[in-house]
Amino acid sequence: MSAQETNKTIENKVKHLLSQMTLEEKVGQMTQVDITAIGNIEKLHGRAEELIDPAKLEDAVLKHHVGSILNTPFSPNNEAQSIETWHVLTRTVQDAATRTRLKIPVIYGIDAIHGATYTQNAVLFPQAINMAATFNADLAFKEGEITAREVRVSGLQWNFSTVMDIGRQPLWPRLWETFGEDVHLATVMGTSYIKGHQGDDFSAADKLPTCLKHYVGYSYPLNGRDRTPAWIGERMLREYFLPTFEAGVKAGSPTVMVNSAEVDGIPGHANHHYLTTILRGEIGFKGFTVSDWADIERLYTRDKMAASPKEAVKIAVMAGIDMSMVPFDFSFYDLLVDLVKSGEVPMSRIDEAVSRILTVKYQAGLFEPKPLLPMEGNFATAEAIETNRQAARESIVLAKNDHNILPLKKDANILVTGPTANLLSVLNGGWTITWQGAAEELYPQEKLTVLEAIQEKSTGKVTFVGGNAFDAPIDIQKVVDEAKSHDVILLSLGEHPYTETPGNIETLNLDQAQIDLANAAIATGKPVILLTLGGRPRIITSIAERASAVILGFLPGMEGGEAIADILYGDYNPNGKLPISYPRNTNGITPYDYKPIESFETNIYDPLYPFGHGLSYTTFETSGLKVEKSQISMGENITVSVNVKNTGSLKGKEAVLVYINDVAAAVTRPNKQLKGFKKVELAPGQTESLSFTLTPHDLSFIGVDLKRIVEPGDFTVMVGNETVGFTVTK
Ligand code: BGC
Repeated sequence: MSAQETNKTIENKVKHLLSQMTLEEKVGQMTQVDITAIGNIEKLHGRAEELIDPAKLEDAVLKHHVGSILNTPFSPNNEAQSIETWHVLTRTVQDAATRTRLKIPVIYGIDAIHGATYTQNAVLFPQAINMAATFNADLAFKEGEITAREVRVSGLQWNFSTVMDIGRQPLWPRLWETFGEDVHLATVMGTSYIKGHQGDDFSAADKLPTCLKHYVGYSYPLNGRDRTPAWIGERMLREYFLPTFEAGVKAGSPTVMVNSAEVDGIPGHANHHYLTTILRGEIGFKGFTVSDWADIERLYTRDKMAASPKEAVKIAVMAGIDMSMVPFDFSFYDLLVDLVKSGEVPMSRIDEAVSRILTVKYQAGLFEPKPLLPMEGNFATAEAIETNRQAARESIVLAKNDHNILPLKKDANILVTGPTANLLSVLNGGWTITWQGAAEELYPQEKLTVLEAIQEKSTGKVTFVGGNAFDAPIDIQKVVDEAKSHDVILLSLGEHPYTETPGNIETLNLDQAQIDLANAAIATGKPVILLTLGGRPRIITSIAERASAVILGFLPGMEGGEAIADILYGDYNPNGKLPISYPRNTNGITPYDYKPIESFETNIYDPLYPFGHGLSYTTFETSGLKVEKSQISMGENITVSVNVKNTGSLKGKEAVLVYINDVAAAVTRPNKQLKGFKKVELAPGQTESLSFTLTPHDLSFIGVDLKRIVEPGDFTVMVGNETVGFTVTK
């Protein structure tokens, strides 16, 4: 059947089903509850069969007709379950759905953020900020494929991933869930992930729907704290924050989760302009929107926008929210049924929302479920683990390497210290086994910390001075004493795991204990290799300036320890590049695509390391930058070509980045903007010619009247040290 025929068939099925549904059944479809609402609290540590309370399940699915359930059971801190437990849980829920009058399946959603977060022993990839640092779209595609397969093996049906927010506020505790500060990079990585995750048809046994989040503007809180206001004018919203979502919709993601906070004074969940006028009317999104956690009632309890919980439901539904992540009770259901009965919410709006939800359920194949994929050959396969290790290696940024101190000789005597040296949680961050990712005791013991990976590779003496928890005190005097009998110190600093509001901070500065440790290590006079792990660019300037080498690890995932050791000892030649500007000072939060005024007079873009920075153990040179024509007309593409050569003595990979600048325009333009990148692997002395097509969209911007336009005039293309110009004529 062609895609068009399939759509027509689904449309007919949805119409037919909808025509048989009562108001209560419809509103139930719009209701999503947490598993706690059907959970057996007393039996949280019991057998899988006992985790669900049959009476509560009956109440949710048969009496309240809920359309969706989410999350892993709270036991004791909502942790990953075994595949067997997931099978029992999801089967029990579906069995209940088959006992309903119309047998509409319940869609079970989960946060599988960097792999199947909540399934024990899943392949857990580098977090998104690291995936962006790979500048390798194939790896994002493969991450999507592997994540989808492992989530499906678990019996789960909907993934609350991927984050399409742009990471331009380094204080924000979810920065690492983004693909960094650049629109083009995030667009390419995000859409590649979606394509790998969904394939051409997400009803396939190894695919499932993604969810674009958090629409829109969530990632740019003015004060850096999670779930606080963003001040983004509509031009900037359209230029920086909307395009990734638009691309995600075009890539076929059928669901969108809404911004928990507010933009320009309007909470995301009340914003009709964003949710309906733009998302539906302009972008053409056909799927369904889901609220974020408890965010409809927060229009009343937190935002004081609604005068009552009932008004909150009305505002959100009328703004364009199709499904409510309530999450613990049936208040949304009761209130919405009342609102329809009293005529305050028209039935047409309910029918619209429910049609969208049912359409996605049909598209996902839930009405004719396929047998689950067996674990064997589909879950945590050697191949998937190797892909993960490769992603981790390509995601690590070598920022400084004075006198080629790296790679280390295997027989070097190395002193390892610092709070992030011997923990798995600090390599993974939030959304790992638990929500906050901090339950070190639940991590798979066969995976290696940085220290353990060094111990495996080193043939010299390896000494560790540190504790087994992030905040365990470190004996600084011991570090100083031990340094004498070692050649080099690996100083592993950074952040403990976190996500969302618990990760809020007041400053990007490191805590004093880490600064004291660093100063003492540097004062020994032994060469210091600084490694940082964590989701945000914490200020390391004075340490980095005195260290011999700097490795920015961010959150490289479960194979991160091994990947870092591979790079330290030269078993892998590093090629990660920064997907954000690494600030020099706490207030240095200017992104790379700054406006002319940001480098005018006393203003400067002066990060510690710029966007795109990353060293290799070999050297590369780009040359021969050319544009195919010096003049094009509006609406035409233009091809840019450039050669890249490995000028060093080791094989290596290099991501070539193409930037443009619109020389003069009616709205101020960034000094440069990334519009293309390609990663190549080259042997020493080898050259490759690369070509890139710039489309009218690449040359466009949001004009004075808020419409996307291309203006005639001059453009500059920049690659490496070269620039070349062309003109767009009327
Ligand atoms: C987060 C979302 C997540 C949801 C469901 C919320 O608190 O903001 O990113 O998908 O919870 O767990």
